[in-house]
Amino acid sequence: MQGLFAAVPSGDPYRTMSLPAAPPKRPYVIMNMVSSVDGKTTVNGRLSAGDLGSSTDRHVMDCVRSHVDAVIWGAATMRQSPHPLVLPPDMESVRRERGLEPQPLPIIVTAAGMLPFQSAAFEGPRQPLVVCPRSIPEQQVEMGRDRAHFEYQGREEVCIPSMLRALKETYGITKLLLEGGPQLNYQFFQNQAVDEVFWTAAPKINGAAEDLSMVMGPAPLSPPPQLSLLSLFSQGSELFARYAVQYS
Ligand SMILES: NC(=O)c1ccc[n+]([C@@H]2O[C@H](COP(=O)([O-])OP(=O)(O)OC[C@H]3O[C@@H](n4cnc5c(N)ncnc54)[C@H](OP(=O)(O)O)[C@@H]3O)[C@@H](O)[C@H]2O)c1
Repeated sequence: MQGLFAAVPSGDPYRTMSLPAAPPKRPYVIMNMVSSVDGKTTVNGRLSAGDLGSSTDRHVMDCVRSHVDAVIWGAATMRQSPHPLVLPPDMESVRRERGLEPQPLPIIVTAAGMLPFQSAAFEGPRQPLVVCPRSIPEQQVEMGRDRAHFEYQGREEVCIPSMLRALKETYGITKLLLEGGPQLNYQFFQNQAVDEVFWTAAPKINGAAEDLSMVMGPAPLSPPPQLSLLSLFSQGSELFARYAVQYS
């Protein structure tokens, strides 16, 4: 552990980070989540700004976003926080230096297609990509046609490996940030498609059984992914960990 632990540097703690090249059939995938110390990622079934992470956490989230081509969410997360994906102007120049578009591409995974197409989330700098199965109701596509681009993957639900392959081969996405929620995170782990985990431990205890943890599915992941600590920053009592994921 020695040498890995430090106070959050001023500015961007991940400024000098470089992510490895993408594997052959998918982007390099990093996940970023915040939870209470008892592992809860929601409070009363939702997550509002300030519920768990501090303003430093939100800054660190933007810093992580500044390293990727695209950010992906499950539709439930998007419905609950229909905000546009916009990084501050100073991060646009950093992104250009890294060979990225000035702003990342927002991606939403849905089967039902019930997305808030009239919300600000669809008025950001880049038109969102909606990944859906062919069974998506046509009227939902009609509602979103002018606000998003639709990518069809799978029959009744989106096949995660096919989607990842298309994101790389069709959209040129080599670095992808997974930002939840827990249901979508589970499917990525099931497909051994998370390479790194960025985790903010908010110094709080929630305690409610019904609140969600970081990765949620019907059965324990098998084999259980193993994590190795790459770095650990602190700001007051809040911790910011970066782990590499191994599947053995
Ligand atoms: N603490 C954190 O860092 C953090 C981060 C993110 C989210 N959250 C919280 O997590 C909660 C939501 O998480 P969640 O696990 O309930 O939901 P989620 O993973 O955000 O979204 C689930 C939805 O995504 C779509 N989906 C997922 N996999 C799919 C597939 N293979 N094919 C087609 N559609 C698919 C479906 O959408 P349709 O229903 O549209 O078909 C499904 O209902 C929210 O309360 C949010 O605030 C916390």
